[in-house]
Amino acid sequence: MLELGCGTGRVLTPLVEAGFDVFGFDHDPEMLSFLRNNFPSELEPRSHIFLADLSAFHLSIEFPLILMPCNTLSTLPKQTRKACLAHVYQHLSPRGVFAASLPNPMAFRELPDYGPPEIEEILIDPRSESPILVSSEWKKESDRFVVQWHYVRQLLEGGEQRLTVAISHDLSLREDYLKELEFAGFQEFTSYGDFQKTRYRAASPDLILLARK
Ligand SMILES: C[S@@+](CC[C@H](N)C(=O)[O-])C[C@H]1O[C@@H](n2cnc3c(N)ncnc32)[C@H](O)[C@@H]1O
Repeated sequence: MLELGCGTGRVLTPLVEAGFDVFGFDHDPEMLSFLRNNFPSELEPRSHIFLADLSAFHLSIEFPLILMPCNTLSTLPKQTRKACLAHVYQHLSPRGVFAASLPNPMAFRELPDYGPPEIEEILIDPRSESPILVSSEWKKESDRFVVQWHYVRQLLEGGEQRLTVAISHDLSLREDYLKELEFAGFQEFTSYGDFQKTRYRAASPDLILLARK
């Protein structure tokens, strides 16, 4: 199988550990170097990790399953998404399946235009053991929902370090994604509203799309 935007291997690594042969790529060299530095060496023969862009990847292999977990699809600009879906279709074997999970766009659309900072969780940095306070705030634009993630690390020697990362999600609806999948060549679709395979509804937490070649 192939994972698109594999990042640090949150999904790829357990799949290889479970016995699958997994290809994965990302355009962020730092993510990939974290993955390579932390990947169990005995599993390396079953993993194939490389640097590439979702809008232009070319492999001479076809896959029965191509995955795009953890919201990556909704973060792509529309043109990148369109190019990506065309490449996905080309890289699937006959009757192969593309599976993507994203936050439910309907749930975003129903939120107010602005959400002030709210604490999400406190993480412990595994390397320095210092606590990291994670909070988020959002704003809704005409066709995007922008979440700012704030990370404040309490330094053990006193003081703090701050980092803010903005993630922007397209507010396209399920029907828009299905049209784009159809345009890319897919003919059979299923969607779920969560990982228990509940039917997709406006109030579902997730939008999980499955498309068969
Ligand atoms: C939300 S993270 C998901 C990471 C991983 N799939 C997971 O589930 O933990 C999105 C990943 O997609 C990658 N990405 C975003 N745009 C990309 C692009 N145009 N080409 C390749 N990778 C991309 C990011 O670098 C990031 O690692």
